[in-house]
Amino acid sequence: MTSTDLGPASAARFGDRSLFPGLEARVYANHAAISPPSRPVVEAVSRVLASYATRGASAFPTWMDQRARLKGKLARLIGARAEDLGLVQSTTRGVNDVALCFPWRAGDRVVLFEGEFPANVTPWQRAAALFGLEVVFLPVADLAAGEGPALARLEAELLRGARLVAVSAVEFQTGLRTPIAAMSALCHAHGAELFVDAVQACGATPVDVVASGVDYLACGGHKWMMAVEGTGFLYVSPDRVRALRPSVAGWLSHEDGIGFLFEGPGRLRYDRPVRAKADLVEGGNLNAMGFAAMEASLDLILALGVDAIHAHANAILDALEPALVSRGFTSLRSPDPARRSAILGVLPPEGVSVVTLAAAVNALGVACSTPDGVLRFSPHWPNAIGEVRGIVDAVDEALSAL
Ligand SMILES: Cc1ncc(COP(=O)(O)O)c(C=O)c1O
Repeated sequence: MTSTDLGPASAARFGDRSLFPGLEARVYANHAAISPPSRPVVEAVSRVLASYATRGASAFPTWMDQRARLKGKLARLIGARAEDLGLVQSTTRGVNDVALCFPWRAGDRVVLFEGEFPANVTPWQRAAALFGLEVVFLPVADLAAGEGPALARLEAELLRGARLVAVSAVEFQTGLRTPIAAMSALCHAHGAELFVDAVQACGATPVDVVASGVDYLACGGHKWMMAVEGTGFLYVSPDRVRALRPSVAGWLSHEDGIGFLFEGPGRLRYDRPVRAKADLVEGGNLNAMGFAAMEASLDLILALGVDAIHAHANAILDALEPALVSRGFTSLRSPDPARRSAILGVLPPEGVSVVTLAAAVNALGVACSTPDGVLRFSPHWPNAIGEVRGIVDAVDEALSAL
């Protein structure tokens, strides 16, 4: 059963949070941090537990098949083929998998961005220590200042001989969408590859790995995918997968790695080839409940359509942004619609502590967060345009109490 079989009572509707009956916040605008699970997600997790509780090990094939189906849907989400995806436990795990499996040569240079979320930095630093790489940082602020100068600075770095560039599709604090396609074209023109952390994009901001020439992409499930923690996926371009070294392989990464459990004696071997596919990263048993949750949520997202979700979130932000600016906040949102995600990051008026302000706004029932000192609002499909009034009232009340 898929969550789309659950009937109209479980259908997602823009601006309707009836699938989140227990949600405490009056306005939940914090999907860039962690999404609350919808009722279909909670039910999907319960179904997995119930099936193992009644059937034990014989439930396993059901959930293995479910994960294959999920990959088909994830492929639709990012414009890929299902066979180019592997399921992982987090964005970080996907970054690490590529960092450890990439066919490095000592002295290779990796270009990162100062100001990025550390998930897309630490694994490359560890790979640098392990494989003798050189890490180079470019300022992420370049990307905010304008596409042209940022791409020129990147090209200058690529001309020095970089092997891989790692960047986020959407910056976690400003919400700026990175010009991935232009970056990938530049990387490829200079013999480098592009790794994209898409956890702040997938589910609410369109991503097409093939159209934008992405080589690798990792995404966790607990933010805009609206699934749960402990889930994620990795995309590896079919042009790159054969060159990967299977450094993270486990017992389930082999071709026919599982037959010895079911097909009688003489099948236990250690020399079967490791799959030269993205799913080589699925080396052991996976988070069955988490991936059932991901499919249930993804069914809702695909039914609404990511383009429409992006437009809906931006209609909310179009109303919220000027209201905050008129109160002395500085918006970090791009004037260019093509560079907008579903995040609005603002800096508070002079002299106002963002931490104190956000604590007060949250206490008034408006869930938001403060990454890197930025006040961040991140609405998704269940938010309604009418909620903007509630956000602004909470901000006014919080400001007047400071
Ligand atoms: C851009 C970015 N990448 C990665 C992460 C962390 O992802 P994960 O916990 O799935 O590794 C976050 C936020 O938590 C983020 O904002």
